[in-house]
This record gives sequence, C-alpha cells and structure tokens, in this order.
Amino acid sequence: MLFLSLAYLLISMFTVAFSVIFLTFFVGLFWGGAPFVPASQEAINGAFGLLAIKEGDVVWDLGCGDARVLIDFWRKQPRASYIGMEIKPFPYLLAIFNVWRSGARKAIKIRRGDFFKEDFASANAIYMYLFPKLMDQLLPKLERELPQGAVLVSPTFRFSQKKEGEIMQLKPQRGNIIKTLNLYRF
Ligand SMILES: C[S@@+](CC[C@H](N)C(=O)[O-])C[C@H]1O[C@@H](n2cnc3c(N)ncnc32)[C@H](O)[C@@H]1O
Repeated sequence: MLFLSLAYLLISMFTVAFSVIFLTFFVGLFWGGAPFVPASQEAINGAFGLLAIKEGDVVWDLGCGDARVLIDFWRKQPRASYIGMEIKPFPYLLAIFNVWRSGARKAIKIRRGDFFKEDFASANAIYMYLFPKLMDQLLPKLERELPQGAVLVSPTFRFSQKKEGEIMQLKPQRGNIIKTLNLYRF
C-alpha cells in the first residue's frame, strides 16, 4: 500500500513538472512580438550574400532566436563581430548554448532584451525576420540610428514606407517558407 502511494505521488509530481516545463517552453516560444520561426539554410546563405559581410563589420540579428543565423554568418566570415538580441527566454538560452557549442563566444554576443531599447549606431549590417507591423514600428529608429551605408535583409516581409534596394528570389523547395529576401540600404 505504502509502495503504491509513493509510486502514485512520484508519477503525479513527474506529470506536474513535465506539464509546467512543456507549457513554459511552448508559451515562451510564441509569446511576444513575433513567434520564433527559424530561417532556412538557403535563406541564411542568400542573406549572407546580400549583406556582403566583410572583415570588421558589426552585424546584428534583431530577434536572433537560437542564433543559427549569426553562427552561420560567423562560419562564413569569422573576422566580423555579431550581436544577437532576443526577448524570449527559451530561444535566448538556446542561443547562448549554441554559440558556446560553436566556439564563437568571442565573436558573437547574445543579449537578452527588447531591441527597441538598444542603440543600433554600431551596426553595418542587420538581419531581421520579423512581422511587417514590427518592422514598420522599427523603421524610424533604424533611420535615425543606423550609419549611412548600413544594409538590412528581411526574409519575406517588407517595410511599407521604404523601398527595397534588391529582392532576391529563392529557389522554391518543399517545406521552405521563405521565398524572397529583401535588401534595404540606409
Ligand atoms: C521569426 S523569429 C527569427 C529568429 C532568427 N532571427 C531566425 O531567422 O532564425 C523572430 C524572433 O524575434 C524575437 N523578438 C520579437 N520581438 C522582439 C523584441 N522586441 N526584442 C528582441 N527580440 C524580439 C522573437 O522572440 C523571435 O525569436
């Protein structure tokens, strides 16, 4: 009887703990201004080409998710520096872990917080994969703070009040939801 009660208690505790962790993780992924939807490898390759990242550049990912984009950029150009901003706790923790695992800790800094509170003056190149409403809210800040000549790539979504400098079409592939990359010059 005692054994059964203990087993029941343990199973209940395990179920509650698992539900809390699962719910926190799930809500953590989707709560906030834009859900955490990672970019495909093809989109990352295209963005790297469009941004033309070179030695000494400072590259930001606004809403960096798990940092896959910055890690890939760093592998392609290790002599630039990279800053990822992420507001959601779980993608942020994943980003920290992924950067640590990749060995890029010196080159890639991940900051937890709201990119609206950051100053973008140091950025030469920006990557962001955000909904159009959020992009439009960010535009005045980007226009104010980015140095002249800075470039920005946004997969799929566009600013309503700024003209694209270039639009790259990606090869249609099954499961790839990003079909275009939009380049902006500031
Ligand atoms: C669509 S995901 C893109 C992730 C990554 N950049 C990629 O392309 O794989 C957008 C990310 O922006 C983050 N985000 C949304 N609003 C933010 C804000 N105000 N400050 C920082 N991060 C934000 C979300 O948490 C989410 O992880």
